[in-house]
Amino acid sequence: MSEKLWGGRFEKSTDEMINDFQASIAFDKRMYREDIEGSVAHAKMLAAQGIISADDAEKICAGLQKILAAIDAGEFNFSVALEDIHMNVEAALTEAIGAAGGRLHTARSRNDQVALDTHLYMRRQVREVQRLILDLQAALVAAAEKNRDVIFPGYTHLQRAQPILFAHHLLAYFSMLQRDFDRFDGVYARADIMPLGAGALAGTTLPIDRNFVARELDFGALYSNSLDAVSDRDYLLEFLSAASILMVHLSRLSEEIILWCSREFSFVELDDAHCTGSSMMPQKKNPDVPELVRGKTGRVIGHLMALLTTVKALPLAYNKDLQEDKEGVFDALDTVKFSLAVFAQIVAGMKIRRDNMRRAVEEDFSNATDLADYLVKKNLPFRQAHEVAGKLVHHCIARGCYLKDLTLDDFKKFSPLFDADIHDAIKPETCVAARNSLGGTSPAQVDIQIAAARSWLDEHR
Ligand code: ARG
Repeated sequence: MSEKLWGGRFEKSTDEMINDFQASIAFDKRMYREDIEGSVAHAKMLAAQGIISADDAEKICAGLQKILAAIDAGEFNFSVALEDIHMNVEAALTEAIGAAGGRLHTARSRNDQVALDTHLYMRRQVREVQRLILDLQAALVAAAEKNRDVIFPGYTHLQRAQPILFAHHLLAYFSMLQRDFDRFDGVYARADIMPLGAGALAGTTLPIDRNFVARELDFGALYSNSLDAVSDRDYLLEFLSAASILMVHLSRLSEEIILWCSREFSFVELDDAHCTGSSMMPQKKNPDVPELVRGKTGRVIGHLMALLTTVKALPLAYNKDLQEDKEGVFDALDTVKFSLAVFAQIVAGMKIRRDNMRRAVEEDFSNATDLADYLVKKNLPFRQAHEVAGKLVHHCIARGCYLKDLTLDDFKKFSPLFDADIHDAIKPETCVAARNSLGGTSPAQVDIQIAAARSWLDEHR
């Protein structure tokens, strides 16, 4: 006979290699706290419903607390023969308290148990991720405030396009992270549905009270269909999807920081404590952190693809394939949390090289749109104004100078509408201040964004 908790109908014990292959304890042990919390709530419910005695429930809960303390203290021996966290805890309980331990699994299957554990675990972890998002957002707002007057070129096609406030650029990432935060609220809402009581798939013959368990564990809702309760992995797919989008945002900022650190841009310098050197080239200071965050983005996206593929053709209800949900989700969680934490440091420690940014604005033609808008304000149709400005840029390129270097006479040769105020109109400060449309880059608009960001952070932190 098999020594397994489920060994009754077996003549042989499990082949050792087969057991290693199917066991999940190596990774699901990280849900021990949730497994125990879920079991405590279940035991209390069984007693409240008269399914087990109050005495047995007390013994079970006390025994589970001791197991929790032992695991916390690193004094628990996890056994691969016991397959997963559920049977490891249950076996230890029965060993500690005797027969009463054998009543804990009444009206329960590991199928609804693992679903409950994972829901509890994800609820907690999602809040952690959100807290780290807020920390990074706070670092971005602080950097925006500190460098509020710094102007640099905004790019399209990676070509200098129009002068913008550097703070405006940073705040774009604040907005992206705000949506990420909201997406994780959605993940939380879907994790906040209570599956226990579904049994293996069809419910149970015993008079359980699912609402009792939901109240004990502070769930906002219950699954209304037992098959769905044990088969649903949407909340994990949503988590991986939200995590992938978040990583894509971090990856885009990584790419920009990597470019900005290059000698070619020289817009920012990362803190020495945040970079590494080269074992061969003595001059190197490499932006490893943004490079790694950019690199790790691929792996989080990969976990999303893997789980989508795993679930895609699964018949209802539980199939062991579903055990494959955890490693990718756990790895994505670790990756996202670590990436957010290091990124907050990178942003906080980033030195802004405002002179180089200034030069990139002055020694170029990112004010050409403003030149055209100047003529539009003198009532020239925009298409003609665009043409005049284009010709002026062409003229400057041929002469090897910039728009600001032209005299009023030079300007007048291209249009009689130019006046003495033209030089002022194409200064970077003027160009930026003039983009005062709602959500634009003017200092006034950026101040509105900073104030909104601050109050959003106050509300959520
Ligand atoms: N370790 C399993 C998992 O993560 C627990 C559920 C096992 N259920 C079963 N019927 N074998 O999915």
